[in-house]
Amino acid sequence: MSLSPFPESYWLASADIPEYPALTETIETEIAVIGGGITGITTAYLLAKEGRTVVLATSGRLIGGTTGYTTAKVTAQHDLIYDDSIRQFGTEKAGLHYRANQGALEFMRSLVEQEAIACDWASEAAYVYATTASGAEKIRKEYEAYEKLAIPGAVVAELPLPVSIQNAIEMKDQARFHPVPYLVHLVKEFVRLGGRVFEHTMVDTVEEGEPTRAKIRDGVEIVCRDLVSCAHFPVFESGFYFARLHAETSYVLAARVPGELLPGMYISADEPKRSVRSVEYGGERLLLIGGESHKTGQSSCTIKHYEALEAWARERFGAEEFPYRWSSNDFVTTDKLPYIGRIGTGKSHGYVATGFRKWGMTTGTAAALLLRDMLTGRSNPYEELYSPSRFQLNPDAKTILVEGADVAGHLIAGKLEWLSKKTRDLGMDEGALLRIDGKKTAAYRDPEGRLHLVDATCTHMGCEVEWNDADRTWDCPCHGSRYDYRGEVIEGPATRPLKKLEE
Ligand SMILES: Cc1cc2nc3c(=O)[nH]c(=O)nc-3n(C[C@H](O)[C@H](O)[C@H](O)COP(=O)(O)OP(=O)(O)OC[C@H]3O[C@@H](n4cnc5c(N)ncnc54)[C@H](O)[C@@H]3O)c2cc1C
Ligand code: FES
Repeated sequence: MSLSPFPESYWLASADIPEYPALTETIETEIAVIGGGITGITTAYLLAKEGRTVVLATSGRLIGGTTGYTTAKVTAQHDLIYDDSIRQFGTEKAGLHYRANQGALEFMRSLVEQEAIACDWASEAAYVYATTASGAEKIRKEYEAYEKLAIPGAVVAELPLPVSIQNAIEMKDQARFHPVPYLVHLVKEFVRLGGRVFEHTMVDTVEEGEPTRAKIRDGVEIVCRDLVSCAHFPVFESGFYFARLHAETSYVLAARVPGELLPGMYISADEPKRSVRSVEYGGERLLLIGGESHKTGQSSCTIKHYEALEAWARERFGAEEFPYRWSSNDFVTTDKLPYIGRIGTGKSHGYVATGFRKWGMTTGTAAALLLRDMLTGRSNPYEELYSPSRFQLNPDAKTILVEGADVAGHLIAGKLEWLSKKTRDLGMDEGALLRIDGKKTAAYRDPEGRLHLVDATCTHMGCEVEWNDADRTWDCPCHGSRYDYRGEVIEGPATRPLKKLEE
């Protein structure tokens, strides 16, 4: 394989992000926004514009979560969803979901124009294309849904893609962009308006009340009236989010391809899923090719997913160079609509935004607009639709049981599939679960020959982590936590590292 040995996000490699300090002492604020991705940054920016006193705190670096590992299509198309949504929720709610996302896109477009943000913003049509008869039938049904919901679109028979298609559905006037310069602009505006930013500030626990306290570590807290969790997985312990969300990992390659820049943004209706868009930023012209989703921690060999994308890019586009590759995960709710809004049913001061199903450029922005309205006492047409307190017996309850069974199965399988290797059996750059002195141990030997041993028990709820050979991470199959090979948290719900062990 000609891919780079270690994954690197093109977005993070190609644009600078200013650094901010870690929180070292307790602070008080009116509103604390937790999470430095598109949702948290946009929410903090909008609230500061309303004159609120806001702290933005994030674990790790700003834009270092899923937002730094996206493909950054800005579209309300979200694959084929509207026909399903009409059947599941009815025409009115399906239409609201479309308008929330299209409205978010329009908000982003006007911000980019008004503030002249140089972020590779380009208007593009978005397409879902079918290569099989059953895919073509789904496209036809989706188009009927577009007509019912008055979504500007069309069914087309040809595309400038090197793929033989049966048909495709077009959503006009969508967009692509580079998320880093866009969000850096918002962060700088937030700071100019008086907002405070803290990086490397992981919220460990939250004590809800009046005031609410977000504990960072002993003696360091954020004390606030309202706490808004935009941390991808909610920072609140209440709400059973671990049973109402599952994490899916997807893979992206950035390829140099001969010829003209491909216009339009594409995703396949059929499996294997392929997502394609162009990038033109800072003199670099790349094609992004994504796909190969699976539940996080539930793939036996992750490198094969990059290999499948590489083979497709070579065959279809004549790609020969792949300067960047990366993967990340996003959360999916049981009814596939995001959870955005106040937690609980009473007068709680806690808010969440999560479950964007790999479409968080628009839905994360829609979340920020909704949260701004809720926190400033304005009505918003999407409040009820996205309420985290909604609970539909069908299909939500049924799916919770299925998700639970899936997790339980993995807990058992993790125990049975225990490897009987010794540390001396590990080659360079190889990781495996071993039993050492009777302890389940996650072991990795780095390319310099150093051995890294950590307890294989996920610090969230005790499942066993699995080795991800492509990204050199330990991934939890239960609720999607990811750790680097030293056991440090990359992605929650876990907030504490895997315990370090000695040989
Ligand atoms: C491969 C891939 C491709 C995608 N492509 C697209 C696309 O083309 N278009 C689209 O619309 N969407 C896409 N998505 C989805 C989109 O990228 C996400 O929905 C979106 O980035 C989520 O943003 P966020 O701000 O909610 O979360 P994040 O960007 O993950 O930000 C959350 C932040 O919270 C911090 N955090 C977590 N826990 C804590 C804690 N306890 N305390 C403090 N901070 C914490 C993290 O460090 C992180 O920085 C894609 C997703 C993937 C995985
Ligand atoms: S993420 Fe929940 S147990 Fe690991």
